[in-house]
Amino acid sequence: MRLIKLDATASTNTFLKELAKSGYLDDFTVVWAKNQTRGRGQMDGNWCTEPGKNLTFSVLKKMEGFQLNKHFELNMAVSLAVFRTLDLLKIPRIAVKWPNDIMSGSHKICGILIENSIVGISLKSVIIGIGLNVNQSHFPGNPKASSLYNKTGIVYDLEELLQSLIKNLKLALSILQMGEGETILHEYHSNLFRKGVASTFKSGDGPIFNGIILGVGNEGKLRVRLEDDSLEEYDIKEITLLY
Ligand code: BTN
Repeated sequence: MRLIKLDATASTNTFLKELAKSGYLDDFTVVWAKNQTRGRGQMDGNWCTEPGKNLTFSVLKKMEGFQLNKHFELNMAVSLAVFRTLDLLKIPRIAVKWPNDIMSGSHKICGILIENSIVGISLKSVIIGIGLNVNQSHFPGNPKASSLYNKTGIVYDLEELLQSLIKNLKLALSILQMGEGETILHEYHSNLFRKGVASTFKSGDGPIFNGIILGVGNEGKLRVRLEDDSLEEYDIKEITLLY
């Protein structure tokens, strides 16, 4: 494992992507920046956090031969690696919100952005970007965000936490590469946010509806039992869970 520490960069995902273009990079190269000036989130969103207080890092993982149709397994493995790390720290009421936000109670404390390089129908490598809110105490304008500090009152050592996340990431990805996707799926389901609970959703084009999350189905779609008892599967772009 090679760890590159930066004081600041626009985005660790972008930094690692550029570095990967320029030549050979070791498997599991990690780029950690104390500050990101243009952190990127899912669906072209931003990821803005207070400099020096949180973890923002990216990992290059070679995935030669890994079938693209198993991409959601990768997504679940990364989410579980974060989940397991926080579970060991006894962070209260943690869960994985589909597809890959990590929650503590009803607050988001970690976001994940996975970007691929694809060859044919298989993956060549992935860049796994993780933003974990650690010691920041205020999230102006974002009442749904929180941090480990806010949940436990403990100030965490960022480097120690990073090492623990990397260890769990290696473990979860090795389980996946050994073909044990079922184990990952089972653990993901056991820790899925609002699973089995009546919830409200907003569909992409407007209407609000109720349903119960049953789990994740084919290709990572969210399986929901609707009020008329029908079963639907939704893509990430199609619905938002309101909470
Ligand atoms: C989300 O929208 O929930 C995903 C956020 C991912 C943020 C991390 S921080 C490290 C890496 N670099 C980025 O620019 N984004 C990811």
